[in-house]
Amino acid sequence: MSESNGNHSSTNGSSPALPRHIAIIMDGNGRWAKRRFLPRVEGHRQGAKAVRRVVEESVRLGIRYLTLFAFSTENWRRPSDEVSSLMKLFLMHLESEVDLLKEHSIRLRAIGDLERLPAPVASALERCMTATQEGTAMDLVLAISYGGREEIVSAARRIAAEVKSGALDIQSIDEVAFSTKLYAPDIPDPDLLIRTSDENRISNFLLWQLAYSEIVLSPVLWPDFSKEEYMRCLEEYARRERRFGLTREQMLELRTLERSA
Ligand code: FPP
Repeated sequence: MSESNGNHSSTNGSSPALPRHIAIIMDGNGRWAKRRFLPRVEGHRQGAKAVRRVVEESVRLGIRYLTLFAFSTENWRRPSDEVSSLMKLFLMHLESEVDLLKEHSIRLRAIGDLERLPAPVASALERCMTATQEGTAMDLVLAISYGGREEIVSAARRIAAEVKSGALDIQSIDEVAFSTKLYAPDIPDPDLLIRTSDENRISNFLLWQLAYSEIVLSPVLWPDFSKEEYMRCLEEYARRERRFGLTREQMLELRTLERSA
């Protein structure tokens, strides 16, 4: 098996124990609520508290990028009252958390088909991203109205347009050139994907970027995802041996070279 897209993914050799980029599929809000005979939206409200816990813990640990799957392109097909409750929740948190993000020097970013968002959510998102754009401690990336296939299709469209206009030669299209057309090309691929609630799917999340990510599954429903469970996931990651298709010996050599550089 060959290495993935050159400079876009990272061997993370200098600090293999701590992921530089963590992506999370926050699953299980609905089941959390159902078990308590509560409306699904209550699961999402409690889920938002777990988001805060994980964001604070990630900055404290020195995680550089955190990407959260907040709403998928498929989620638009959920019952309209659930979709509008989620949109209200996003709006409320985008407005109320700006100061906290600034205080921790967190830069908010978003990936997805943002044009589908209701206007108040889109403008609150825009305001929050502008207000936090100087943040340097961590990039918090919200995948909202996001679909991995859609992201790849939109990159393909942009590549095709450049070929058509003569700006790009077909022979120059390779993995690195292609990845520059993704939603956030400057962000390295996730080192670690965490999915909660004992589900074992990627669910159309970061299909391109997860090629070499380690996957850690947590049995915990997202609203119950605690700092302790987060640490358990990170400890499991730290025990993994990442090889990116190379042999163990090649990886050790690469790490030595990276350390001495
Ligand atoms: C999946 O659980 C979760 C979502 C579709 C929404 C994620 C939203 C939040 C965590 C709330 C707030 C987020 C932010 C960024 C403020 P599910 O509803 O699919 O659960 P189920 O599989 O048990 O039904």
